[in-house]
Amino acid sequence: MATRNPPAQAPQQQARPARALRGAAISFRADPFLAEDPAATLRHWPDALIRLEGGRIASIGDYSAEAAAGLAVTHYPDALICPGFIDTHVHYPQLPMVGAYGEGLLEWLERYTFPAEMAFADAAHAARVARVFLRALLAAGTTTAAVYGTVHAASAEAFFAESARLNTRMIAGKVLMDRNAPAALLDPPGGGIDESAALIERWHGRGRQLYAVTPRFAPTSSPAQLAAAGRLWREHPGTYLQTHLSESPPELAWVRELFPEAEDYLDVYHRAGLTGRRAVFGHGVHLSEAEFCRCHATGSALAHCPSSNLFLGSGAFRLPEAKRRDRPVRVGLGSDVGAGTSLSTLRTLGDAYKVSRLNGTRLSAVQAFWLATRGGAEALDLEDRIGSLEPGMEADLVVLDLKATPLLEMRMAACGSLAEQLFALMTLADDRSIRATYVAGERLHG
Ligand code: GUN
Ligand code: ZN
Repeated sequence: MATRNPPAQAPQQQARPARALRGAAISFRADPFLAEDPAATLRHWPDALIRLEGGRIASIGDYSAEAAAGLAVTHYPDALICPGFIDTHVHYPQLPMVGAYGEGLLEWLERYTFPAEMAFADAAHAARVARVFLRALLAAGTTTAAVYGTVHAASAEAFFAESARLNTRMIAGKVLMDRNAPAALLDPPGGGIDESAALIERWHGRGRQLYAVTPRFAPTSSPAQLAAAGRLWREHPGTYLQTHLSESPPELAWVRELFPEAEDYLDVYHRAGLTGRRAVFGHGVHLSEAEFCRCHATGSALAHCPSSNLFLGSGAFRLPEAKRRDRPVRVGLGSDVGAGTSLSTLRTLGDAYKVSRLNGTRLSAVQAFWLATRGGAEALDLEDRIGSLEPGMEADLVVLDLKATPLLEMRMAACGSLAEQLFALMTLADDRSIRATYVAGERLHG
């Protein structure tokens, strides 16, 4: 009896049709802080077709029926498609105590932060908070973050495990502390470095996960621990270094007392080998000209955390100083939750504008969206993978709803330009405007 030819391809093995997103889209081609014509740095497609393939952007261009033929197209009218937001400084273990009342930095750490971080001795607690945190990040349109754990190795382990499950591109590390914190939060002599090394072996470069050596800040590490952190970082090329720098005046005075030999706060880290490309310093509110110059010379980045600086009363970061054209410093945006009060990049940008007004300057909407996307990618040395909508980039995207609320819809109707729309978004919008978040081409939110 003749046998039938088998079908060319079993139905369950048929490839999914190539997918694409349709809608207005923006992406940066250059840094608006440095360009002669800042407005020209922003590309805008009023109606784009973005083809996704293998977790990456395969192409982006103007929509046409021919270009869309054969593609499964998801259409987002009344929306703006942006590169996924990038949060360059955030503490996931502090999510359960965000918005703690009424203290400056050092008292806030003692009274609220350290007790909350002690709970991460329990790995199940860490796993629970990591899950909630990453979901909340995606709901805010953030697809990459530089994240602090606690001193417990299990805090970083739990975070990476959840991020790997979601396939989000994340940078994270276990905090290092060996003095000036409760005993339960101190690394044993040498222990913190060994545990960090083991986490690097296990997680750095595994899928989309990246490791950051994470001494909390100068006051909670001995000079020996800072030096050991510097050696560890340099022994593992491609890893990150993250810590806090020059956040509040009482902190600066304490650092001067603890490190009398250092020229300034940044010099404490520089002497320990902790400056350079892929070093990301949170805050930098009170940096001197010499420190800005050293950030520029070493390629170190700053994470501007306006919500946190307002909440703790730390001071007003001088962004135009940091970005001065003769010695520009890489700057990204940080929510710094739990001192910052929201994971929303849009709300954090609103705060950044208000901080700029305290300085007598004014952050433009174009500059703001740069900070939240391509600027963050440059601060994290990831601009070849994320932060813009270009062929070959990883397909991490956020779709912003321009009519998320009646108020926003009414305000948008009064906007005469894209810049005005962006400014209305950063002033009025929040998570309600996150219509969808895509991670490596997959819709994980919305
Ligand atoms: N400096 C040292 N630790 C911290 C922290 O957890 N949050 C903030 N905002 N600043 C710090
Ligand atoms: Zn912080």
